[in-house]
Amino acid sequence: MKAIDIRNKYLKFFEKHGHKVIPSAPLIPENDPSVLFNTAGMQPLVPYLLGQKHPEGNRLTDFQKCVRTVDIDEVGDNRHLTYFEMLGNWSLGDYFKEESIQMSFDFLTKELKIPVEKLYITVFGGNEVLQKDEETATYWQKAGISKNNIYFLKDNWWIAGETGPCGSDTEIFYDTGKPKCSENCNPDCDCGKYVEIWNNVFMQFFKDENGELTPLKQKNVDTGLGLERMAMLLQGKETPFDTELFKPVMDKLFELQKIDYIESRRIIAEHLRSSMMIISDGGRPSNVDRGYVLRRLIRRMIRHMNKLQIDLNEISTLIEIYVQNLKEMYPELENNFEIIKNTIIEEKNKFVKTLAYGEKEFNKEMNKAIQNGEKLISGKVVFKLYDTYGFPPEVTKELAEENKLTVDIQEFDKLFKEHQEKSRQGSEQKFKGGLAEQNEVTVAYHTATHLLNAALKVVLGPDTHQRGSNITTERMRFDFNCDHKLTDEEKKKTEDLVNEWIQAELPVTIEEMTKEEAIKSGAECMFIEKYPDIVTVYKIGNISKELCGGPHVRNTSEIGKFKIKKEEASSAGIRRIKAILE
Ligand code: ALA
Repeated sequence: MKAIDIRNKYLKFFEKHGHKVIPSAPLIPENDPSVLFNTAGMQPLVPYLLGQKHPEGNRLTDFQKCVRTVDIDEVGDNRHLTYFEMLGNWSLGDYFKEESIQMSFDFLTKELKIPVEKLYITVFGGNEVLQKDEETATYWQKAGISKNNIYFLKDNWWIAGETGPCGSDTEIFYDTGKPKCSENCNPDCDCGKYVEIWNNVFMQFFKDENGELTPLKQKNVDTGLGLERMAMLLQGKETPFDTELFKPVMDKLFELQKIDYIESRRIIAEHLRSSMMIISDGGRPSNVDRGYVLRRLIRRMIRHMNKLQIDLNEISTLIEIYVQNLKEMYPELENNFEIIKNTIIEEKNKFVKTLAYGEKEFNKEMNKAIQNGEKLISGKVVFKLYDTYGFPPEVTKELAEENKLTVDIQEFDKLFKEHQEKSRQGSEQKFKGGLAEQNEVTVAYHTATHLLNAALKVVLGPDTHQRGSNITTERMRFDFNCDHKLTDEEKKKTEDLVNEWIQAELPVTIEEMTKEEAIKSGAECMFIEKYPDIVTVYKIGNISKELCGGPHVRNTSEIGKFKIKKEEASSAGIRRIKAILE
């Protein structure tokens, strides 16, 4: 059965059982800055799981586009995907365990005609606080599952992230028929004999920051079934890449490659599909958050295309094949074809430059090593090439080997781990604060500082530069060099100019270049030595150009009205403006 038929059958089945079919939310969460992408069907429904009334009623079903990137480095094996589609059905305080289990059982055995003996079930086995879920096991048996196919596990509990609605779950596994890997092989085992296909979560608690559980207003059911996996199993395929979802692109890659690595073909096919879905839903490559995930996906895909020696111009062909292949499931891909193609190609061009630049830097380092009579490129250098130029360590290694040198990959790994740990802590910090430092409001303020910087140059002269700034969700503070107290007229002119540019709906664009190129182009920059050799430059229409890490609004129209509240001395020769956005 094709994936689209499974999807349609699913929605129809739950519709027949009183569920309203709701549309998939975009991949990029609309009102939830705490997650980068929707990672489960329940995510856009959190307010309703917590008790808010859903306009479509208390039985819902949908397919949800999801991206999970924790396993990005695993893609290439036979099962991991970053983009996948989750089919789900929800009871918002309506039916609970028994009816949910009966419906799942009926869908699998009657609609998809999976033989009952192929189904294995796991159930919550209890912990210090909560009892073993015997009730759920009873319902499975009542539905027709043999007692021998039911396993109690302690970690059958589901929550998205750290806090929020949660509860015990029951997971449904499909027995592929492969031999058991050991006598104790069971659905909890990772050997591949049993594949998880569906998760039914009985959401009845809320977990707070202290880890405390409190009962929700209502008892909900939240389920999720992975479409790609289900298609793979029903089609008797070994991997999702063998299903019709990926096959045309996989075949094309096979035809185009000059070197044969199945893992690389899977990575290219997988990352391209994910990137297309993310761009189609509004994502753009950048150096932060979602944009960075997208950038990584595209760049990793390109590296693997290089590895297979596939001409990078073939990216357009691959995109076209996907659009043709998937447009019935995702019509948005066809509607957004141009933007998808242009975004990926633009990013490709940038990365090709990065690679070329990195190679030049590598040669410098190599010559240094040779001159010093060394045969080893240090991990520090490998890391610098990676961190500053985005130059992948495996490429450094290959180049070194071609020149009869080795690289200290162990040292690199150590540095890389430290770096990862730091960024992990950084992002946890950020998410803990509910993105306090970086939400829509502060992003708008940030772009406003660029406008103010440009306006002051017009009003006070081109030698006026930023000397500091500070942003909260309430206001911005901006320091600049100036030898006198601003007159009322100067203040008004500055304010008017900023508002004029906001009203002009100027686009904010971002470009990557070397530091020298940036300076040559006249980009404004506060502490040039603080920046890496490859920098991002933000341009606002043609009135502002600044070296900056972002993020910024996409268009000045998103900023609101700019108002100067105060102008005062900050220190000798430095004035300070306090301003707000309304
Ligand atoms: N929300 C549950 C999951 O993602 C169904 O597994």
